[in-house]
Amino acid sequence: GPTLILALTRENAVAHWRDLLGPKTVEEAMKENPNSLRAQYAVSNVPIGQLHGSSTPDDAQKELEFFFPEEHTFALIKPAAAAKYKDVILQKVKDAGFTISKFKEESLTREMAAQFYHDHEGKPFFEDLLSCMTEGPSVIMVLTKENAVEEWRNLMGPVDPEVAKETSPESIRAHFAEDILSNAVHGSSTKEHAQKSIECVFGELDLD
Ligand code: CMP
Repeated sequence: GPTLILALTRENAVAHWRDLLGPKTVEEAMKENPNSLRAQYAVSNVPIGQLHGSSTPDDAQKELEFFFPEEHTFALIKPAAAAKYKDVILQKVKDAGFTISKFKEESLTREMAAQFYHDHEGKPFFEDLLSCMTEGPSVIMVLTKENAVEEWRNLMGPVDPEVAKETSPESIRAHFAEDILSNAVHGSSTKEHAQKSIECVFGELDLD
């Protein structure tokens, strides 16, 4: 059946949790420390302890990475929003628990913007999109967190700010977008796109 997996945080967490768990086997726990969690929450007829804790901080790190793998996504604050709302948007990013693993401020050239948005080439708004993306410096970032691609997309909100205001009033686009083109922020739609954009802007990365 399902297992409940927790990342617990406090000073000296590994040793403290092990103290709470008590001796390794249920039998020892019952005998030596009946107040321990392993003794209190033993399941009758099951000799195996029902609770686990990492043995060392190194093991904790490995187990956390296994169960809660970090992901990177590519994120950009578009020029109009970067000029007006950079600090408040960055604060929202941090409040949402993202680590900013890479950061740079740079004006995209038309060539870079065209390469970046080549999926949209031929669409009626393509030229306007290039103009809007090259009118000043953008803030370009790699954001890191468990499930980063999806979580950044949720924080951005829908592409069209009118839709964002209706369906995600707390999102960045609902608050800071001017219109669908100058919609404050951009983010990759998949892990693969994120990887490509990160390599394109920051080069080969040693993020993992
Ligand atoms: P972004 O996340 O940067 O990805 C592509 C961009 O194209 C998108 O945000 C919008 O700014 C823009 N875009 C998408 N659809 C339209 C549209 N129908 N009209 C104008 N701009 C659009």
